[in-house]
Amino acid sequence: MEPLNVSAMQKSDVVNARTGERWLYSPIVKDHFFNPRNLLLEEPTEGDFDARGTVGSPACGDVMDIWIKVDRDQDRIKELKWKTFGCGSAIAATSMFSVMVTENGGMKMAEALKIKPQDIMERLGGLPNRKIHCSVLADKAFRKAVNNYFHATGQHERVIVEGARIIDARLNVTDKDIEEAVLEGATNLEEVQNKLKVGVGDPAAIPAIEELVRFYKEKYFG
Ligand code: FES
Repeated sequence: MEPLNVSAMQKSDVVNARTGERWLYSPIVKDHFFNPRNLLLEEPTEGDFDARGTVGSPACGDVMDIWIKVDRDQDRIKELKWKTFGCGSAIAATSMFSVMVTENGGMKMAEALKIKPQDIMERLGGLPNRKIHCSVLADKAFRKAVNNYFHATGQHERVIVEGARIIDARLNVTDKDIEEAVLEGATNLEEVQNKLKVGVGDPAAIPAIEELVRFYKEKYFG
């Protein structure tokens, strides 16, 4: 067995044994990982929360669950609890997201819906690029919970519709598939095509694919 390079290890929190890739987590990420805020410890009973949102990550198969309680008169998030089968980055990002949404008396619904993955990342002091898809889980589960809340309270006109747009009709590939490919690490047309084969038999779709890759790279990686 190879001896461990201790001085290199000290400069990294994680070393991929196969590729040798290493990365470092910020002290804030570690704090939220070891002391997660607003974690749901017991199964909620009827009436504890106004809505729940659950999403799975196509990138890694992990699952995120979020429960919210809303002050209907003020349209503010009163409480947000969460639970996940996800990695340390998902735990830290969701913990931070739960703080952002509930601090200072709770955020107005409209403001909370504007929180972007970069805002969470900024408060965390950064995350390794390959971990961005983990932080997006909180935001997606929250939107789902909010939509469920809107439905449950008859505010159907406020439901956020995030319809998928077909980009390559022959393969039935949508903009959401391209979003996931970028979150999984594809950074250009070629890498997206390696994953999805999108546009290979349909050159007319290529400009739209390139535009989406640019859009999602900017959205998630700044
Ligand atoms: S949530 Fe699955 S790898 Fe982070």
